[in-house]
Amino acid sequence: MNILVSGGAGYIGSHTCVSLLNAGHNVIIADNLSNCQEESVHRIERITGKSLTFYNADVTKEDELTLIFENNAIDGVVHFAGYKAVGESVLEPIKYYYNNVVSTIQLSSFCKKFSVRNFVFSSSATVYEGNRVPYKESMKLGHAANPYGETKIISERILTDLAKSDSNISVSILRYFNPIGAHPSGLIGESPSGIPNNLMPYITQVAKGKLERLYVYGDDYPTPDGTGVRDYLHVMDLSEGHVAALEKLKTGTHIYNLGRGQGTSVIQLITTFENATGNKIPYSIVERRPGDVATSYADVDKAKKELDWNASRSLWQMCEDAWRFESMST
Ligand code: UFG
Repeated sequence: MNILVSGGAGYIGSHTCVSLLNAGHNVIIADNLSNCQEESVHRIERITGKSLTFYNADVTKEDELTLIFENNAIDGVVHFAGYKAVGESVLEPIKYYYNNVVSTIQLSSFCKKFSVRNFVFSSSATVYEGNRVPYKESMKLGHAANPYGETKIISERILTDLAKSDSNISVSILRYFNPIGAHPSGLIGESPSGIPNNLMPYITQVAKGKLERLYVYGDDYPTPDGTGVRDYLHVMDLSEGHVAALEKLKTGTHIYNLGRGQGTSVIQLITTFENATGNKIPYSIVERRPGDVATSYADVDKAKKELDWNASRSLWQMCEDAWRFESMST
């Protein structure tokens, strides 16, 4: 299939392009490089030994999408493009609503216009907050804790209504838990600009000596060691989940959790990283981060059964691969 990947040069997008190319699909990336470099496109080609088509394009813009849809016989869309910093979304909500929701509307309307019937959407476990763990796809969603999460809920609803309006359209909504790690080549990975918001890139930068120490946000949560518990999964498992979702698309809207179904605390992740890489991570316990939940992990039965997909790579492997990428980066 010819797959348009919006945001395909970013962290999860680039790994998914590797998996799509390895599975024999043709890839067309649309990315405006707002949070990544064009170099990652070349690295996807280097890893896979295959070429792809790249557009430096903003998928909220009609004229840029027209060019892409008119010049490529697109069979399916995997939509990643969007802003993703929770804290920034609270400070600049309109920027988040505009970019994340308009991109979904534009891509949906182009799919309709060009009879593209296959759509995979990058959503987030953040949509569940307020429910009890393990999170299940059937849980009723309320309001998200922040504008970023709200843009995911709104986009999910837009795509669900699109599929309801046309019985030929297939939508797969993938709710990611906490992807970490990198391609084992060390050529692509997560490289946030500025000080990282997320735990793993912060840890790797401390290990590299770019940051002095890690601040652990709270040790008084109702969890076994008091630190926050998350469902970490290897980004390569996550990217293979997209290929499975695309290849098993069926009409209507189908929602899948992509996680390992296992919780790991901040302290457990630090210890595994230290053991897997031989780096010591100095840390201090500080106040809780506003908006954080104590525990988040997935019920992954549906993805296992319906997509025949399983996140099999270990926490150890996630740490080793994240560290290889960081140590190879400048
Ligand atoms: N943490 C620290 N120190 C840090 C960074 C994080 O102690 O410097 C802790 C957090 O408090 C939390 C855990 O590490 O307990 C994981 O935090 P991340 O920021 O890595 O991940 P979150 O679970 O907070 O957020 C991620 C994505 C969001 C998404 C959310 C819910 O980054 O986009 O999962 O699915 F919304």
